[in-house]
Amino acid sequence: MNAINPGKTVSLCVMSGKGGVGKTNLSLNLGFALRDMGHKLLLMDCDLGLANLDVLLGLAPEKNLQDMLAGQATAAEVVQTVEPGLDILPAASGVPEMVEMDQNQQGALFDKLTDLVAGYDFLLLDLGAGISGTVLSLARMAQMRVVLVTPEPTSLTDGYAMIKVLNARYGVRDFLVVVNQATAQEAKETFQRLNLACKTFLGFELLSLGHVRLDRTMTQAVINQTPLARHAPQCPAIKDIAMLAARVARYREENLETISQRQALKQIPSVTS
Ligand SMILES: Nc1ncnc2c1ncn2[C@@H]1O[C@H](COP(=O)(O)OP(=O)(O)O)[C@@H](O)[C@H]1O
Ligand SMILES: [Mg+2]
Repeated sequence: MNAINPGKTVSLCVMSGKGGVGKTNLSLNLGFALRDMGHKLLLMDCDLGLANLDVLLGLAPEKNLQDMLAGQATAAEVVQTVEPGLDILPAASGVPEMVEMDQNQQGALFDKLTDLVAGYDFLLLDLGAGISGTVLSLARMAQMRVVLVTPEPTSLTDGYAMIKVLNARYGVRDFLVVVNQATAQEAKETFQRLNLACKTFLGFELLSLGHVRLDRTMTQAVINQTPLARHAPQCPAIKDIAMLAARVARYREENLETISQRQALKQIPSVTS
């Protein structure tokens, strides 16, 4: 399948304040949905402490992102093709010293990935939870940001905290929100609550991308280590994710001009505070 707008790679990160809300499963299945629409994409595991994209795919990669950083593997050796049009860049799990990348390491990593990334329509970044330095700098860098929340108040407050920090520290104001494990009504209320907080206290509004229903089939897919998009392509969560993918693709098309003024993977010098 041909790449759509080749050479215009757009980076999109999936982030959340709280862990366990469904970032990795959303990244993965959004990846499959975009791939099925004809986009070419690279899914990068950026949860450097607790990487698990490979686990959800039933893969056991020999080389990972950390090997690349250490100079023990090239980008080409680390990248694996899951299906034509969908590649993954796995990371190591349980390596505490790799949780935080300093500015130099990040710069070195991006340099190694620049050529590789240019061949994709999308670079999807599955981030770790929370507001650590690496998470924040990757979220700041990404050209599109999806904040994933669930209707739980703790998820909402943590999501808001993350938006607030990215805004205060880096002036980021463009966020796409997805409400996971929710009915349409719950999602509407959750989005409104989050949006109202941003409007009132931060002075800008969020964009709603949609929601994903609570779907027990997802647990089965996780246990089987098969992506839900392939395990049960017609299940409710996958239908919802297909709609999100269509909106992501449309957003990319409509904003490509603005988005591509920056690069998909480029270290932004830190502002001294
Ligand atoms: N829409 C959903 N319906 C049902 N279960 C879900 C849904 N989204 C995520 N889950 C479950 O939540 C758990 C955590 O998901 P995961 O993607 O690993 O979260 P995170 O990456 O945010 O830590 C998984 O076991 C998954 O089965
Ligand atoms: Mg995860």
